[in-house]
Amino acid sequence: MLDRYNRKINYLRVSVTDRCNLRCHYCMPESGIRLMAHEDILSFDEITAVVTTAVEMGVDKVRITGGEPLVRENIIELVKMIAGIKGITDLGMTTNGTFLPRFAKEMKAAGLHRVNISLDTLDPEKYKEITRVGKLQDALDGIDAAIEAGLTPVKINCVVKENAMEAEAQRVKEFADDKGLEIRFIPQMDLHEGTFGEVIGGSGGHCATCNRLRLTPNGMIKPCLFDDMEYSVRELGAEQALKMAVENKPKRGSSSQKSNFYNIGG
Ligand code: 5AD
Ligand code: SF4
Repeated sequence: MLDRYNRKINYLRVSVTDRCNLRCHYCMPESGIRLMAHEDILSFDEITAVVTTAVEMGVDKVRITGGEPLVRENIIELVKMIAGIKGITDLGMTTNGTFLPRFAKEMKAAGLHRVNISLDTLDPEKYKEITRVGKLQDALDGIDAAIEAGLTPVKINCVVKENAMEAEAQRVKEFADDKGLEIRFIPQMDLHEGTFGEVIGGSGGHCATCNRLRLTPNGMIKPCLFDDMEYSVRELGAEQALKMAVENKPKRGSSSQKSNFYNIGG
């Protein structure tokens, strides 16, 4: 699929839940999160149908995100269904890693290729501060489980306040280097204010070469993280929703009032 600016759109990010076991302060408010109603959340069959249509239209790269995708019930089953779609050459997942000790092997067997794991600090106290409820060791065990299961290349997502030279970020980089893992530094963004930056070591944030569409847990195709435009697959059908999203993908992002990281998956 080509959009109006001649960008080749071949990447679909699929957010399968707006729930998460953690509460990272840059992603979720402490309280007052309005979660999606269960009946609004797409079923596995609906998600698989949308991804199938997207692949028929030219998508070959798919990433499962959240919230935290591993809190969605029977997620292994969904991974299997998506992995069974012919034409996907790259099937990844973005996760906070804390449930990987339990799921990594099964996910590999289900057909997932690789994972990106969030890790912003190596200090247990700071990890607790950032995630409000998380234990650093769970994430570290998750990283090891992913490597062991062969969900490679395992990549580390590290959110930074300003830039990659911050002390915390540099420690995470050393850790990643030691383990031979790739690391990407993601500048902390504010969707509502429209502050977004380029991901260092990844492809996010480069509007001119952006190849992405997003599917939200409640079935909206969003052409841009930093725009409120969205097209309902339930109302329009997957093909039409995808087509309209591609046709209306903005040249650059500006800001989004409706979306939050926990329901669109970064
Ligand atoms: N800014 C940048 N990235 C964010 N994420 C969540 N909230 C933000 C934010 N405010 C990203 C993180 C995390 C993933 C799940 O979403 O990279 O790893
Ligand atoms: Fe959960 Fe990831 Fe958001 Fe943290 S950043 S609250 S781990 S979805």
